[in-house]
Amino acid sequence: MRKNIVAGNWKMNKKFDEADELVDSIMTKLEETKLGDNTLMIICPPFPYLEMCSDYSNDSYFEVGAQNVNDNEKGAYTGEVSAEMLESMDIPYCIVGHSERRAYYGETDATVARKVDQLLQHDIKPIVCCGEVLEEREAGKQFDVVKRQITDGLFHLSAEQFANVIIAYEPVWAIGTGKTATPQQAQEIHAYIRGLIAEKYGKAVADETSILYGGSCKPSNAKELFANPDVDGGLIGGASLQADDFINIALAF
Ligand code: PGA
Repeated sequence: MRKNIVAGNWKMNKKFDEADELVDSIMTKLEETKLGDNTLMIICPPFPYLEMCSDYSNDSYFEVGAQNVNDNEKGAYTGEVSAEMLESMDIPYCIVGHSERRAYYGETDATVARKVDQLLQHDIKPIVCCGEVLEEREAGKQFDVVKRQITDGLFHLSAEQFANVIIAYEPVWAIGTGKTATPQQAQEIHAYIRGLIAEKYGKAVADETSILYGGSCKPSNAKELFANPDVDGGLIGGASLQADDFINIALAF
């Protein structure tokens, strides 16, 4: 059975002490309130806090992920972080192709494909983001956009490799805006994505793929969103910066 996943994307937020306090408070709450057996929590802090979060995660209440990785193996790429480095720190997950990286750092589907390859070569599971901007949604192009992102970013993989991929559908118009996709909008596109995977890799692989929703997901709407058959959890930005909100979202399955 595919996993229910709630992943927190802290983005570029929190000073070290604040980050330490947040993860400590998440831990304390997880000790009091057990998550469902099939629920996996992943915390994706900024790079400098990976080790600190990883130390906490040794108690196995949650896993840790990076927010980005370079698409080259190693070498003269000042300021960048490789999949090999993440692997050497036992970081099991990494977000790829977030819309903020696509919009501000010029990441294309081809970049996403190379990053995914680097991660898989180093036994790190990619959380691959896709989703349309507002103009594309208004023009009714959301299915085409998502199909292109998934096809060009992921469909060069073998079925065996693809089995390690988590997908996050994040309509860009819903990210950080307070506007959430309706449960129907989310279900419709998640089912479409699962259909694409089934066509390419077969139903068994599609049924095992976790597809997360992202974009202003919060405790008040998580239950409705996660109740859909093809919504397997969330990639949470703003609400993952508050321990109570994050835990309540994780309890919404
Ligand atoms: P948000 O961000 O929950 O703050 O909308 C989600 C994301 O960008 O992953």
